[in-house]
Amino acid sequence: MNTNLSSSVPSQLETECLVVVTLDRSELDRGKKDQGEKDQPVVAVECADAAVRAAAKDVIASGEVTAKSFETTLLHRPAGLKAKRLLLVGGGKAKNFSATELRKLAGTAVRTLKGKSIRSFAFALPETGIAAGISVNDAVRAIVEGAFVGNFEPGYYKSDRKDNDQKIDEVTIVVRGDTEPLESSLQAARIVAESQNFTRDLVNEPSNRMTPTILAERAKKMAAEVGLKCEVHNGDKIRQLKMGAFWGVAQGSDEPPALIVLRYEPADAAKDVHLGLVGKGVTFDTGGISIKPADGMEKMKYDMAGAATMIGVMRALALLKPKVKVTAIICATENMPSGKAQKPGDVQIAMSGKSIEIINTDAEGRLILADGLCYARQLGCTHLVDAATLTGAVVVALGYVNAGIFASNDQMYDRFASALQQAGEKMWRLPLDDEYKEIIKSNIADMVNSGGRWGGAISAAMFLKEFAEDTPWIHLDIAGTAWMEESKPWIAKGPSGIALRSLVEFVKGWST
Ligand code: BES
Ligand code: MN
Ligand code: ZN
Repeated sequence: MNTNLSSSVPSQLETECLVVVTLDRSELDRGKKDQGEKDQPVVAVECADAAVRAAAKDVIASGEVTAKSFETTLLHRPAGLKAKRLLLVGGGKAKNFSATELRKLAGTAVRTLKGKSIRSFAFALPETGIAAGISVNDAVRAIVEGAFVGNFEPGYYKSDRKDNDQKIDEVTIVVRGDTEPLESSLQAARIVAESQNFTRDLVNEPSNRMTPTILAERAKKMAAEVGLKCEVHNGDKIRQLKMGAFWGVAQGSDEPPALIVLRYEPADAAKDVHLGLVGKGVTFDTGGISIKPADGMEKMKYDMAGAATMIGVMRALALLKPKVKVTAIICATENMPSGKAQKPGDVQIAMSGKSIEIINTDAEGRLILADGLCYARQLGCTHLVDAATLTGAVVVALGYVNAGIFASNDQMYDRFASALQQAGEKMWRLPLDDEYKEIIKSNIADMVNSGGRWGGAISAAMFLKEFAEDTPWIHLDIAGTAWMEESKPWIAKGPSGIALRSLVEFVKGWST
């Protein structure tokens, strides 16, 4: 998808469709009205060009347009505009409007128009009232990111290519004044958004087409394209490194595992910071001997979303070039039942030397991450972040809305929280109190790999903490958010690419 900036007067722009945001100002204007009067939406067209507001005047006066979130109204041959169509996209209550809403509206415009065989459109930057409080750079960024997110379709293997071929080819963002100072925001947003869709591509593939070997090949290819170092280690090396927890999972599968290391090492990076990004890359999770029920098992192809996220983050970093050293460690394997598979009751010795009693072979993610975190520390990482579709329990706790975030260090959490805000992503912090350590005690070994049902997302995080040790560490449990269970106006059903934007923003925050 091409993205441009234009400083044309919106009404004078020749385009297939001009997209304009509408906002409901009723609550802002309430003070002016009599007490008790029922709130009617007061629809504001977010465009300083009077000709555009005039073109929308009649349809708004009809009461048809309420500006509620994601409402779309399409007008053909709008009077006084050079555009062939005018699309009004509802942004909801004016007082709640932010760049996060704007991002979703851009996605909504893309998804509305591409289904109508439209290939290009112009999006007028909202610029009056509250919307004017969003910086122009942030607004450009939100529109670009949202448009790319909306353009993604997961139906790769449909022989009728209609959904896949119906994509937007070009978006023009209409701003007032000089476009030059906005160019770098636009390019940076493109890089992040394309990386997010790259991650979604990886997650979308079924397990027969996304084995650990194929994931490693895709990482290598990407690394060569953007100039990252990439090493792929096989099972022999995993055993040689004494990654007993990782190998315990990998030993049950006929598909060879892969330990993928991606390095981003800019010459001018700070000497004392080295970020380690660790990703769970279970390309299919059957549960192993503690096998999962058949119902819904097909979804376990996305159990490598944490890995795909970290690979996508590395792609974005290589192109954005922040001045900070980052290494990604991806542990990729299947989790299968077989004659070679580990069994409940088995004891594995992790790379760090700690012993683990396997209670449930379906708690495999924490096993592979245990060795991934340990390896990251051995490589000299000073701060660690892992991303994993780790527990069903996080979905019980937070549903499909917020990802779970765990942090051993408050300063690191604060940095991540502001990155989340910038990226427009939702995560909710869960606790890591020492009391929870009780749950993972074992009779025979240092710990068990499953603390059972209660506080399941927390006990999984407590397990990981044993391997992050004293290195400041954040754990993102994206089991409920990496896959959209249904489509939304701004995003298709399927892989979401959650956490990538926040992670990129977080890493940029360490740049010297
Ligand atoms: N991959 C699953 C977690 C998961 C659940 C991801 C739902 C995406 C959607 C993980 O490996 C798992 O099986 N966790 C178990 C842990 C339990 C055995 C302690 C779970 O959550 O049931
Ligand atoms: Mn599992
Ligand atoms: Zn899993």
